[in-house]
Amino acid sequence: MDLRNYVRDIPDYPKPGILFRDITPLLADSKAFAASIEAMAEPFLNSGVDVIASAEARGFIFAGPLAVRLGAGFVPIRKPGKLPFDLHSFAYELEYGSDELQIHVDGIKPGQRVLLVDDLLATGGTMEACCRLLEQCDAAIVGCSFLIHLAPLGGEPRLNPYKVHSVLRYD
Ligand code: PRP
Ligand code: ADE
Repeated sequence: MDLRNYVRDIPDYPKPGILFRDITPLLADSKAFAASIEAMAEPFLNSGVDVIASAEARGFIFAGPLAVRLGAGFVPIRKPGKLPFDLHSFAYELEYGSDELQIHVDGIKPGQRVLLVDDLLATGGTMEACCRLLEQCDAAIVGCSFLIHLAPLGGEPRLNPYKVHSVLRYD
C-alpha cells in the first residue's frame, strides 16, 4: 500500500506559498491509518518505550494508537490554557506562525523512556519545543516518529542528537 496516495496536497493553505499536506484522506481509510501506525512504530518495537508524548492536535491522532501498539502510556503536550496542573513551557516558531507548548511538571518521571510522536516534521520548531520540554522533565528521549517529513524545510538537524524516523519523506 502506497500511503502517499492518501495524502492530499492543498496549495496556498493556510497562507500563500504553503503547500499543505492534508492527511484527512489517510485517516479516513482504516487500512491506511493502521499501516501508518505500524510503520511509525516499527523501529521502536524493542526500544523499551515507557511513554509516548505528543503535541496537540494532529499528533494526538497518532499518539494514542502508537501508545497501545508499543505497550506505553501517553502524556499530552498542549497549547497554553489547556493543562490544569504545574507546567513546563517552551515558545517556538512555526512554518506559518508562532506558538507555545506546555507539559505537566510531573507528566514524565525522571529517566522514563519517551518516544515523541507527530504527524509531520516541517521546520522542526514543534518537535524541538517538545524535546526541550522533555529535557526539562529529565526524560530519556528514545527518538521522534513522524508520518511525514518535509525534508527541504530543514527540521531534522534541529532534533540532534535524537533518532528521527519518518514514514513518508517529501524532497
Ligand atoms: C503542525 C503539525 C506539526 C507541526 C509541524 O501542527 O501537526 O505539529 O505543524 O511543523 P513544524 O515542524 O514547522 O513545527 P500545527 O501547529 O499546525 O497544529 P495542529 O496539530 O493543531 O494542526
Ligand atoms: N504543518 C506545518 N507545515 C505543514 C504543511 N506544509 N502541511 C501540513 N501540515 C503542516
